[in-house]
Amino acid sequence: MSNKMWGGRFASGPDAIMEEINASIGFDYRLAMQDIAGSKAHVAMLADAGIVSADDAADITKGLEAIKAEIESGAFTFSRALEDIHMNVESRLAALIGPAAGRLHTARSRNDQVALDFRLWVRDTIDALDSQLRGLQLALAEKAKIYAGAVMPGFTHMQSAQPVTFGHHLLAYVEMFARDRSRLRDARARLNESPLGAAALAGTSFPIDRHATARALGFDRPTANSLDSVSDRDFVLETLSAASIAAVHLSRFAEEIVLWSTPQFGFARLSDKFSTGSSIMPQKRNPDAAELVRGKAGRVIGALTGLLIVMKGLPLTYSKDMQEDKEGAFDALHSLSLCLAAMTGMVKDIEPDTERMKAAAGAGYATATDLADWLVKALGLPFREAHHVTGRLVAAASAQDKGLEELTLAEMQAVEPRIDAGVFAVLGVENSVRSRMSYGGTAPANVSEQAERWLSALAAEPASKI
Ligand code: ARG
Repeated sequence: MSNKMWGGRFASGPDAIMEEINASIGFDYRLAMQDIAGSKAHVAMLADAGIVSADDAADITKGLEAIKAEIESGAFTFSRALEDIHMNVESRLAALIGPAAGRLHTARSRNDQVALDFRLWVRDTIDALDSQLRGLQLALAEKAKIYAGAVMPGFTHMQSAQPVTFGHHLLAYVEMFARDRSRLRDARARLNESPLGAAALAGTSFPIDRHATARALGFDRPTANSLDSVSDRDFVLETLSAASIAAVHLSRFAEEIVLWSTPQFGFARLSDKFSTGSSIMPQKRNPDAAELVRGKAGRVIGALTGLLIVMKGLPLTYSKDMQEDKEGAFDALHSLSLCLAAMTGMVKDIEPDTERMKAAAGAGYATATDLADWLVKALGLPFREAHHVTGRLVAAASAQDKGLEELTLAEMQAVEPRIDAGVFAVLGVENSVRSRMSYGGTAPANVSEQAERWLSALAAEPASKI
């Protein structure tokens, strides 16, 4: 049997393999709610413009609402023979209300319909991700406030560099997630134009009102070029690139949690809720949730790369290749949502071992820069010379297997006679972090202030749109 939605010029139905490669209902059923919302706005506009009768429009609207209820309750049967969500809904509408159903598709094509549905879906998903990112920022800022003064090693090249505080480290991620939210908001602002009414590619001869449907669906305006409307997938690409950057941020943090929770680091303990045991080695606590957050970044980036490659050779306008835009995006954005939920849970539960972090912060002569800075400030040495003197002091301490603050004044004066007892005020990790008062620096007072700033900014945000 030829397809009842478009099979007029076909004598026979598709080959089984054709049906399998062609059908998208296996994944685009997720667009059902957006498809119905778009159709309701379309038919209301068709009636207002006198293109369909008020009676037909009322029947169509009622039918669409019935279908929505069927889908929500699980009573709806999706059919692969009907290819995609658009034709599944329309075919069910015909079964429910009869021939008037055929009027719904006036002045519209599946090309503008799918562009609309997917935009609506991506927009909803951005809003949900934004609120999850906010939740993660809140969890981080709350922990940062508690641990504003908890000293830990700061690393460059994965070598102990200078002491910082755990709160400062957590707030670094709050900044990253703020940029992720801002990128998603930008993507949302650019995607918020309605492609509905571009029809197949060229627009339509019916006197439709695209501004009305755009308004009804919460868009800022209709898209301005019909060809662009049906062939643009920038909104998915842009969202996936913002999602990829967020996934990379989550992955870097996850990697740190993996390191911190090793017995060798021992900086933090993950709660039982986010760890697993080994089936053979009873002593182990594996940070599986963190590892999976790190791993799933690969899928998100993969979806972006995949879609860029799908799009790169496509002439205007719609080609069926573009049906490949959905599965990767669904998977990637769902994965990101799962990672955000897992990371928020881990942050809430993580218990830093502040004693161990502090001890590690002093290892590796992490306060050598403080000593060099003191030589500049107290003795007026040029920084290069101070650097050299400090190097010799580090060598002297290291020869005796001591920390810098454990050298006696006499031992220091043997290297540089002008050093006095004032130097001890800058040695030691607590003194070191306290002195980093420059804006954005790690001084505990700065960190508390930044944590407070974030907590009140996040609390003041308008209630989320979802
Ligand atoms: N399932 C299709 C997609 O996702 C809908 C659009 C089909 N358009 C067409 N001209 N065959 O891209």
